[in-house]
Amino acid sequence: MKRILFVVGARPNFMKVAPVLEAVKKSGKFECTLVHTGQHYDANMSDVFFRDLDMPQPDRFLGVGSGSHAEQTAKVMIEMEKLLGEEKPDLVMVAGDVNSTLATALVAAKGGIRLAHIESGLRSFDRNMPEEINRIVADEFSDFCFVTEPSGLKNLEHEGIENKKVFFVGNTMIDSVQKYLPNARERFPQLAKKYNIEGKKYALVTLHRPSNVDDMASLSRFVELFERMEAFTPRILFPVHPRTRKRLEEFGLAERTAQNTTLALIDPVGYLDFLALQDQAGVVLTDSGGIQEETTALGTPCITLRENTERPVTVEQGTNELLGLNFDRVLEDTRRALRGNWKSHAVPDLWDGHAAQRIAKILEERL
Ligand code: UD1
Ligand code: UDP
Repeated sequence: MKRILFVVGARPNFMKVAPVLEAVKKSGKFECTLVHTGQHYDANMSDVFFRDLDMPQPDRFLGVGSGSHAEQTAKVMIEMEKLLGEEKPDLVMVAGDVNSTLATALVAAKGGIRLAHIESGLRSFDRNMPEEINRIVADEFSDFCFVTEPSGLKNLEHEGIENKKVFFVGNTMIDSVQKYLPNARERFPQLAKKYNIEGKKYALVTLHRPSNVDDMASLSRFVELFERMEAFTPRILFPVHPRTRKRLEEFGLAERTAQNTTLALIDPVGYLDFLALQDQAGVVLTDSGGIQEETTALGTPCITLRENTERPVTVEQGTNELLGLNFDRVLEDTRRALRGNWKSHAVPDLWDGHAAQRIAKILEERL
């Protein structure tokens, strides 16, 4: 039996990998090993996803934790090299664009082990984003590039990636949305009570891009944006990423946010709760990658607080508006979304809940 080693490390990996692991196991054709690098380690950034996504506990845990880019990447590489030497898989499967993805791709490539990349081909064309570098490297060394949207096909072709390595399979993150949405929806009444929100009448916010939160002036402008939203937004619910929490405290902004009575800063929530909160939000304001896709799948208006996106299909066909730091537009569009007035939208091709099955079939035929 051929052996596949799946790697997860950070929050956005779990919901992309879980359906693929399940589909590959179901095929009965492969032996599977799950490795967690430990890039994210707080219970609400890691453990909760294993429960919510019915994922088996990892077979191997590298425990790398936080650090500078070089430290974190190097730690994963050192531990991954040892592990791949012991496990000798026929294929290593990585997802997305985090440092664990980059480090694993480098080690697999140098170890002569075949590599598959879930969510291949996305490009923001902004090399100041660490994720862009991670994506380029992972794709360059992948033997199987599993693409989520048409722009990915174009980008890979442009970079000279051989056509026979590229497979347009759809979006495994949306497989998870489809599978868990009914469970998530059952939770909303409790969440509504807990957070004092009413369906479609609140804004859901996430922020964690270094360019937005690591600079005091930039983060202060967001705090000001939430103050300006107070006038017309019944509630702003903001599950705060640990990077952002640290910066709010470090920059002395936490007291100011506490004075905003509309704004609720809460700890990161689990997958099912966040899905329910996205589904029922009047509008989502975010700089996340994956949330742009989930809101498009759910039909919830999304305002992306970035100058670029590596997921253009969410703007072209979905519910996403790329507004960057034009906060006058952000305020205007937030108001419009809360009134129920948004552009018409569609769910992109192959975001149908079956992407993981397509991946499993390709591996059965070609690995
Ligand atoms: C990482 C990914 C980013 C992704 C994000 C999703 C890279 C380069 N970045 O960014 O692409 O969008 O995850 O959430 O891989 N921390 C904790 N507890 C944790 C994890 C992190 O407190 O469980 C804090 C630490 O102070 C750490 C900081 O958050 O230094 C940043 O963590 P890190 O994994 O380096 O990057 P993210 O900002 O989480
Ligand atoms: N998410 C979650 N709880 C939260 C915030 C986000 O479960 O409090 C989920 C979200 O539904 C999506 C994923 O985390 O599936 C996105 O991860 P994140 O925004 O951290 O990373 P990015 O997509 O920007 O790399």
